[in-house]
Amino acid sequence: MSMLNIALPKGRLGEQVYGMFERAGFACPSIREENRKLIFENQALELRYFWAKPSDVAIYVERGAADIGVAGKDILLEYTPDVYEMLDLNVGKCRMAVAAKRDFRDDRQRTLRVATKFSRIAENYYAAQGREIDIIHLNGSIEIAPILGLSDVIVDIVETGKTLKENNLEVVETIFPISARLIVNKAGYAFQKERVEQVLQTLAAQMEEEA
Ligand code: PRP
Repeated sequence: MSMLNIALPKGRLGEQVYGMFERAGFACPSIREENRKLIFENQALELRYFWAKPSDVAIYVERGAADIGVAGKDILLEYTPDVYEMLDLNVGKCRMAVAAKRDFRDDRQRTLRVATKFSRIAENYYAAQGREIDIIHLNGSIEIAPILGLSDVIVDIVETGKTLKENNLEVVETIFPISARLIVNKAGYAFQKERVEQVLQTLAAQMEEEA
């Protein structure tokens, strides 16, 4: 058997998901040591974990550098990677939403200026409504855009709603709910189906037990 490569999103969500793997019996103790290493192996279990930027995890999995990965539904809908989406991990819950300044009144006769990191999601959402928009693609701190008059609305992730509130913005509409998903490389799944299934099913059983 060769190493099974698992890509985790760097940050709080990834640590939470690693905890799920650990409790399900797929521990890799060195990952808990405080250091700046990005790759960790458990030779005995033939597992290799690595931390990737959350929006890059799907790229590793799509290209087969990782057999398994964890990505939010937002990333999967924005980048539509060619991977299998196998399991809803029920963590990293938030929503994709349209938000605007509290006093914003939409004039449907005018082109709507939309600031977002999620251009494809925003385009699809407004195309389905037949609404003409002007996408302003930003890379972060999207909430600033309507405040400075760069856009009319934003399409962004809302978790607690705190960021919107503290910037005097409010949700206009929820587009879809988000949670973390387990994704699998297609060829890898065909070649080592039993091994991947064993990981998936053990994780799913563990989640059931903890629910
Ligand atoms: C996300 C999102 C919001 C914030 C929402 O930002 O873009 O800014 O979290 O969380 P809240 O509803 O709990 O306040 P992220 O931390 O990913 O940073 P960025 O979008 O600025 O890159």
